[in-house]
Amino acid sequence: MKPFNCTFSGFGTTVFEVMSQLAREHQTINLGQGFPDEEGPAAMLDALDNATRSFPNQYPPMMGVPELRLAVANHDQRFYDLKADWQSEVMVCSGATEALAATILALVEPGDDVVLFEPLYDSYLPMVKRAGGNPRLVRLEPPDWHIPWDELEAAFTDRTKCILFNTPMNPTGKVFSRDELTALGKLLDKFDCYAICDEVYEHLVFDGREHIPLMTLPGMRERCVRIASAGKTFSMTGWKVGYVTAARALLSIIAKAHQFLVFTTPPNLQRAVAYGLDHEQAWYTHLGQDLQAKRDLLEQGLSKLGFDVLPCNSTYFMNVDIRGLGFHSGDVAFCRYLTVEAGVTVVPVSALYASDDIDHLIRFCFCKRDEVLNAALERLSSHFTKHTA
Ligand SMILES: Cc1ncc(COP(=O)(O)O)c(C=O)c1O
Repeated sequence: MKPFNCTFSGFGTTVFEVMSQLAREHQTINLGQGFPDEEGPAAMLDALDNATRSFPNQYPPMMGVPELRLAVANHDQRFYDLKADWQSEVMVCSGATEALAATILALVEPGDDVVLFEPLYDSYLPMVKRAGGNPRLVRLEPPDWHIPWDELEAAFTDRTKCILFNTPMNPTGKVFSRDELTALGKLLDKFDCYAICDEVYEHLVFDGREHIPLMTLPGMRERCVRIASAGKTFSMTGWKVGYVTAARALLSIIAKAHQFLVFTTPPNLQRAVAYGLDHEQAWYTHLGQDLQAKRDLLEQGLSKLGFDVLPCNSTYFMNVDIRGLGFHSGDVAFCRYLTVEAGVTVVPVSALYASDDIDHLIRFCFCKRDEVLNAALERLSSHFTKHTA
C-alpha cells in the first residue's frame, strides 16, 4: 500500500495523551492538560439552552451568526480601540485551532518560510508543514523568555510569508511588551510579512500587565490576523468557538479555507458566546485575578518544596526547571516518575519544542480548584519529604 501523508504519519501519540493515560492508570491529580475544572458563567448555559430551542439548529451563515460577529467587533473596540467592520472583518471558527489552520492554509504556499517562536503550541508545526511551509524556529530563552533579536532578524528572508505569534504565550506565560511588539512590527514591515496572532489568552494576564494585540500597532492593521477563543475567555474549552479579526481582503481568503474545513460552527454555541461577550464582561475580566491567585498558591507551594519556578505572567501554565532537583534523566522521565511515584501528573515542555535537546522543564497547569492544587502540593510534599529525609 502507498504511504499515508508523511506530516501526520510522522507524529506519534502526543505526550499529553500518553501522560493523561498514565494519569488515569495511576489515578493521579492531573495538572498536565490545560483545561479548567470549573465551568464558565451559568447565564451562558441558559443562553445556550435558549438558543438551542428558540433558533433553527441548521447551518448558520458561513462567516458566523451576526450577533457573535458584532459582539466580537464590539469587544475589540472596547478593549483595544480596534475598529473592525463586523460584516467583512470578523469571522467565527470552530475554536482557535480551526482559525489557525484556516489562516495558515490561506496564507502559506509551498516553499514559503514561516517564522515561529519556540516553545510552541502543538498544532502550529504540523499545520505549517502540511501547508508546505518551511518552519524557521527561533528559541526564546528562559527564564524570562526574551527574544534573541539577531537570531530573529536572521530568520527572516525574502521567502518569509508570515510569523506565527502567540501572546500571551503558552507555555511560557510571557506577555510581549509594546517595545517588543514594535520591534517585531518593524521586521514584518521590512520583510513584507503577515502575522498570525494567536491571542487566546488575551484576558488571562497577571499583576496589572496589559495584553496588546500586535494588530493595534501603527502599520499592522493590514498585516495581522487576530485569533481569540471563547474556550479560554469563558472556561468553556469544549465548546470550540473561536473568532478571527482581519482586514477584509485577507479575511475573505481565510473564509474560503474555513468554508472547506468546517463551513460553520454550531449556531447555538455562537449565540451563547455572543451573550457572554456582551453580558459577562465582569466574569472574564475577573478570571485573570482568580488565576493569578492560583498561580501564587502553586508557585509558593512549589518554591517551598525547593522547585525552581520560572516567572509566569499570564495563561494558566507554570514552568519549573528540574535541574536543581537532582534528577538527570530528562523531563519525560521526570513526568513519568512524578505520576507513578508522587501521584501528580504534569507535562514535559520538550513536547513543545521541535527537537529534543531541551529536557529540563516541566509544565504545571493551575486552572484547577484550590483544593485540587493543595492536594497536589500535599502529595508532592509528602513524596519529596520522604525521599530527601
Ligand atoms: C496557544 C493556544 N492556541 C490555541 C489553542 C486552542 O484553542 P481552541 O480550543 O479555541 O481551539 C490553545 C489551547 O490550549 C492554546 O494554548
